[in-house]
Amino acid sequence: MSKGSCIVVTGASRGIGAAIAQVLATAGYEIGCLSRSGALPALHGSGDDGSDGIDGADELATRVQGRLHAVAMDVTDRTSWEAALAALQAKGLKIAGLVNNAGLHLEGRSTEIDLDHWQTVINTNATSVLLGCQSVYPHLVQNRGGLIVNIGSFFDKLGVKRNLAYCASKAAVGAITRCLAVEWAGQDIRVLDVAPGYIETDLNADAMRSGPLRAYLEKRIPSGRPGTALDVANLVGALYSSGAGFMSGETLYIDGAQGIAH
Ligand SMILES: NC(=O)c1ccc[n+]([C@@H]2O[C@H](COP(=O)([O-])OP(=O)(O)OC[C@H]3O[C@@H](n4cnc5c(N)ncnc54)[C@H](OP(=O)(O)O)[C@@H]3O)[C@@H](O)[C@H]2O)c1
Repeated sequence: MSKGSCIVVTGASRGIGAAIAQVLATAGYEIGCLSRSGALPALHGSGDDGSDGIDGADELATRVQGRLHAVAMDVTDRTSWEAALAALQAKGLKIAGLVNNAGLHLEGRSTEIDLDHWQTVINTNATSVLLGCQSVYPHLVQNRGGLIVNIGSFFDKLGVKRNLAYCASKAAVGAITRCLAVEWAGQDIRVLDVAPGYIETDLNADAMRSGPLRAYLEKRIPSGRPGTALDVANLVGALYSSGAGFMSGETLYIDGAQGIAH
């Protein structure tokens, strides 16, 4: 995929999506930053030597910022998808990739959750992935191929109390990924599922840095810490930059080995 082409990232206003948008923009791609609010992601340093972040490099920061194109939309609505992609095209952007990252997490006892809970989680986390993939498909065919990365969760293979709808929605993301990878391989379109474990973001940082959740995570995650949004973003960035063109349909877990630990 040539640098300068546009990768659409949903849920790019904050959290993991904002980090993905930053990493891909730093790599030279134009980014369609889709979210309900239409807010531009706040840019952070890389946290290491700054080589893949933007610390201390005003010129690079300005260039990266200039590659971010925010659009307010709703990933659960087909018409909204059409309007968002049309808005990006109207800017002269060529859509060549998609990261379906937008999602939400609701909890509730399985005896008590109502249809509204179920439909909200399934629509936001799974139906949105189908709509996003269908919406970018003609663009990717026109470009003679492309890469779609769906953001799932390691809860897709776990039984988690009070998380029935969330677990089902992320299992659906894995299934959608496999089906589309097979159906669209002939068009040179690859589809992958990146499935994170516990990831520290601005929203949950307090709970993950101290208190009972932190103690639980230190005990349960073999690597001894939750992941960062940049951990996930760097994996997504590597998938777009690698020449691993034979890999498709797989779910790639990034969870500090928690999901396979005994
Ligand atoms: N954080 C974790 O520990 C973790 C672990 C495993 C998997 N994941 C998955 O990773 C993804 C990102 O998680 P996160 O923690 O970064 O989430 P987050 O901080 O809550 O951000 C969610 C993003 O999705 C957008 N969004 C939500 N509903 C939307 C809708 N209907 N239409 C358009 N945009 C919508 C939000 O937009 P607004 O800003 O406009 O509200 C926001 O940009 C999710 O799919 C989540 O399930 C997260």
